[in-house]
Amino acid sequence: MGWRCRPDYLVGMPNQPDVLEKLVSLCKRRGFIFQSSEIYGGTGSVWDYGPLGVELKKNLKDRWWHAMVRARDDIEGLDAAILMHPRVWEASGHVATFTDPLVDCKNCKKRFRGDDPKIKGTPGTPDAQCPACGMKGTLSEPRLFNLMFKTFMGPVEDSASVVYLRPETAQGIYVNFLNVQQSTRQKVPFGIAQIGKAFRNEITPGNFIFRTREFEQMEMQFFVEPGTEVEWFDYWKQERLKWHQSLGLDEKRLQWHQHTKEELAHYASAAFDITFDFGGTLGFQEIEGVHNRGDYDLRRHQEYSGKKLEYFDQPNNKRFVPFVVETSVGADRTTLAVLVNAYREEAVEGEDEGRTVLALHPSLAPVKAGVFPLVKKDGMPEFANTLATELRQHFPVFYDESGAIGRRYRRQDEVGTPFCITVDGDTMQDGTVTIRDRDTLQQERVAAERVGPYIRERIAV
Ligand code: GAP
Repeated sequence: MGWRCRPDYLVGMPNQPDVLEKLVSLCKRRGFIFQSSEIYGGTGSVWDYGPLGVELKKNLKDRWWHAMVRARDDIEGLDAAILMHPRVWEASGHVATFTDPLVDCKNCKKRFRGDDPKIKGTPGTPDAQCPACGMKGTLSEPRLFNLMFKTFMGPVEDSASVVYLRPETAQGIYVNFLNVQQSTRQKVPFGIAQIGKAFRNEITPGNFIFRTREFEQMEMQFFVEPGTEVEWFDYWKQERLKWHQSLGLDEKRLQWHQHTKEELAHYASAAFDITFDFGGTLGFQEIEGVHNRGDYDLRRHQEYSGKKLEYFDQPNNKRFVPFVVETSVGADRTTLAVLVNAYREEAVEGEDEGRTVLALHPSLAPVKAGVFPLVKKDGMPEFANTLATELRQHFPVFYDESGAIGRRYRRQDEVGTPFCITVDGDTMQDGTVTIRDRDTLQQERVAAERVGPYIRERIAV
C-alpha cells in the first residue's frame, strides 16, 4: 500500500470552526466554483471554476511560479504532456503500487476504503458492519484498486493501446531531466518545476475541492549530488513553509506532519507534509508534500527505457545519477485552504447588519478594486466609469452603480475585494476619491490619478 496507507481524515484534531458548507454556497452564489455538469445532476467530485474562482486559482499559481521559477536562477519551468508512454507508469511504480484498499457492501452496494475508520470490525468477516446500511457480514475483503484512469490512444481499444491519465506531474519532469539540463546548461544542484492537471480515481473523494478526481499540482523536482540531499531537503522544507505563510495562511493553522515508515511512498526515504487546519471534523490535512525521493525515479527510468540519465560533473570529471528532493503542492487544495482561512462573519460597529468577508491576501483577490459613483447623477457615473476603465488596464476592477453604497461595499467584501473607490460630490470639486480598506474599514482621500499606484503597491507584496 505504501504511500496511500494513511487516510487524510486521520491527521490532526480539529480546533477551528467548520465553514465549508457556507463556503460551498458562497462559491456558487458569487461565481467562484460550480459543480461540474450541474444541469445533468453533477459529476462525482469534479468542479468547475467560475469567473472569480479562475482568477483566484490563477493568482495562486502565478505566485508559485514566480517564487519557484522566475525569481530564481536555479529552477527551470516545464509543461509536459498529460498522456505519456505507458512504460513510464511501470517504471514509476504506479501500475504495481498506486492502489487503495477497496471494500464493497453486498447489501447496499456502497464502496469504502478498507481503512475507513467508520467501518466496525474487520471487512470480510461476519462481525464487520457496513457504515452506510448498518448490515453485518456484508462487507467484502479489501481488494487493491489502482487509482489511475485508463484510456486508449488511437482508434483501437485493445490492451496494446492503453494509456493512463497521469496521477502526478512529476514523471514528466524525470523523463525530461536531460533535455532540460542540456538545453539550459544548468549545473547540479538545479530544479525543474511544472504546474498541471493530475487525475486519480479516488475511492472516497469529497469535502468540496479538497479531494477530487481531477486536480492541479504544482510540483518541483530538485536534482542534487548524492550525499547532499538531506541538507537540500531541510532547505526546501523551510522555503515551502515560508511560501504558505506568505499567502496569509494563519501560522497557527499550519503544521508539519512527518511520515512514519508505514506511510512512506515506495520512492521516498523521508517525507514531511505541510498540513493546514481546515476546521470542523476535517481538521489538519496535507496541502503539500516535501519528499526525499533519492535516485529511485531516475534509476527506474534508466532501467525501463535503456537510456542513461546521468549528469556529467565536468570540473570533477565524474558522472552520477542525481538524487531528487521533491516539493508537491495541490493548487485546488491550497485554493480551498486560502478560502477557509479568509472566510469570516463579523459585526460592524454602528451597523445593525454584520458582514461576510473574504480577507484574501490582496495579491490573490480575484478583483482588486470596486469603483462606485456615490449617486447616479452630477457627472459621478461618468467620472467613476473613466477611472474604472483606466485602472482595468493594470488589474481587475468591478464597476457598480446599483443600490445603496453600503450594500455595494458588502458585495465586494464577500468576494474579497481589498479596495473600494467611491466617487462623490468632493470628487467633482477637487478630483479626489475615497479608498476604503476591506479589512480596517478605514477610508482615505486620495487624488484620482494616485489610485492606480496606491493599489498596485499594495497588491504587489
Ligand atoms: N508527486 C508526489 C505526489 O503526487 P501526493 O502527496 O500524492 O504527492 C501532492 O500529492 C499534493 O497533491 C497533495 O499534497 C495535495 O495537495 C494534492 N492532491 C493529491 N491528491 C489530490 C486529490 N485527489 N484532490 C486534490 N488534491 C490532491
